[in-house]
Amino acid sequence: MNSLYSVGITGIGSYVPEKVITNYDLCEIVDTSNEWIVERTGIQERRIVDQSLSTSDIGTIAANKALEDSNTNPKEIDLIIVATATPDMAFPSTACIVQKNIQAINAAAFDISAGCSGFIYGLSIGFNFIKAGTYRKVLVIGGETLSKIVNWEDRNTCVLFGDGAGACILERCEEGFGFLTFDLGSDGNNGHLLIQPAGGSRLPASYETVSNRLHTIKMDGREVFKFAVRIIEKSSKEVLRKANIPLEQIDLLIPHQANMRIIQSAIKKLQLEENKVYINLDKYGNMSSASIPVALDEAYKKEFFSKGDIVLLVAFGAGLTWGATLLRWNK
Ligand code: COA
Repeated sequence: MNSLYSVGITGIGSYVPEKVITNYDLCEIVDTSNEWIVERTGIQERRIVDQSLSTSDIGTIAANKALEDSNTNPKEIDLIIVATATPDMAFPSTACIVQKNIQAINAAAFDISAGCSGFIYGLSIGFNFIKAGTYRKVLVIGGETLSKIVNWEDRNTCVLFGDGAGACILERCEEGFGFLTFDLGSDGNNGHLLIQPAGGSRLPASYETVSNRLHTIKMDGREVFKFAVRIIEKSSKEVLRKANIPLEQIDLLIPHQANMRIIQSAIKKLQLEENKVYINLDKYGNMSSASIPVALDEAYKKEFFSKGDIVLLVAFGAGLTWGATLLRWNK
């Protein structure tokens, strides 16, 4: 991308709740088995928030860690973007609640809805605001409390999801480092494959929507699976093409952490070695927009990559949506 300066991640932090729900715990609730869940998904356990906590609470913890990591005073933040499918409420935005919590009094704040691709969408928005010269410091959070919208009686979905939050501070960085390019896309024609039907203007909350559990996640797993495998390959290749970087130069791929078999099928298609792929879904399940920032933070702290390394992030989710970005790590 042509630019006078580059934009990168200067601070990163994440948080997962302490409470662990294992596959064996789920066997007490629905007709499933540890073997089935591990074999079909790769997930062994997931984290669940205390019922008193919301997405803004855990997003705030992650945000404070990212602020600390980049030694940023909250008053310096110009914009807060929260990517979430589980906002605290319809309004005000979760981003405005986080703003209050961290007292980022000089920031504009809004939420975005792009399902599990939300964090990549958020990064691209922050990147573009900084690139355009509008803002200098942007806080991007991916946070979810999916446990609040899971139907705990539906074995098709309840085994898949978990709660967590991750945050990044974006700002100008050394030229040639940071975000190299983005690829975003959506396919609204297939939005019906993954939905939370009620609670919006289409089906406002009523006794009927509650008794029919229409406020919980409904998904056509098989179709989403096929879409995911196809789109990881397509979107990854697209960012590589745009940045003119061959696949061999990637140091680490961090894909959305939904299902081990999706990741394995996609990297086989991409012809990428397994040791270049970061996976933590065994511990957390699918945390939607939080999966990528939590994995990025973990991989960074475990030194899976360092300054100058090329990291590819790729996600897919409700919408349907997808997004990928290539980063030359600048920290
Ligand atoms: N335990 C035991 N059996 C289960 C089960 C569970 N937790 N969940 C589903 N099953 C059953 C189904 O009822 C079905 O039984 P049937 O054949 O008698 O109807 C059988 O297992 C196989 O179902 P199928 O849908 O073919 O399984 P699958 O191999 O496709 O795996 C998913 C199901 C949901 C794990 C998989 O499709 C998936 O991961 N899809 C993508 C989901 C996703 O990533 N969503 C988020 C996107 S951001």
